Amino acid sequence: MTEKQVFSEEERFELLIQGVLDAGYGFCDQFLDEEVIAGLRANILRHHKAGEMYTAGVGRKFDFQRNATIRGDVIRWIENDTIDLFEQAWILKVRTFIAYLNQTCYTSINDFEFHYAYYEQGSFYKRHLDQFKSNQGRKFSFVMYLNDDWKDTDGGNIVLYLNAEKEESLFPHGGRVVFFKSDKLEHEVKPSNSRYRLSIAGWLKSV
Ligand code: OGA
Ligand code: MN
Repeated sequence: MTEKQVFSEEERFELLIQGVLDAGYGFCDQFLDEEVIAGLRANILRHHKAGEMYTAGVGRKFDFQRNATIRGDVIRWIENDTIDLFEQAWILKVRTFIAYLNQTCYTSINDFEFHYAYYEQGSFYKRHLDQFKSNQGRKFSFVMYLNDDWKDTDGGNIVLYLNAEKEESLFPHGGRVVFFKSDKLEHEVKPSNSRYRLSIAGWLKSV
């Protein structure tokens, strides 16, 4: 067995927050227990199989389009008052993170929204910014991956465009979280040519 470095909850939160402060993005692994990740993965696969996921939009209200040339995932929103136990564990962890963030960074995050996202093999999300021009409520983007045994050779990386010279890639290993400011960081989801790609993606908001 390979040794995995074990971080406490606070250390993981610090990796996310310090990463944003120092580099413009933060990430950590094992954000939740394996068992919760597996439960969330089973949820998304069940919803997908039952045809309970929807083509994601681009933009909002009047500029809302369903444009598969820009993004190819299908999504399903998670209710913040869900009765599903795995989703409750996820929401509780998000709330704990938000409390920590507000306390340590004087942010005033008071709302959040998350959806499951299923990218079929070969589908992608072109370079974009998450914040709508007409609505500044989305302060931070927060993505957690749900993939089982992802290999870097599977592709499906998120590319973070840090500045004109610098970009970073992260692969969507199950339990990994990526965190960044929604109005600042352009990013892109590359296709996997070998398998589907699962995540929960969403936003911490100030409304
Ligand atoms: C998004 C997004 C990134 C990812 O849903 O807006 O950029 O890695 N997701 O899934
Ligand atoms: Mn995005």
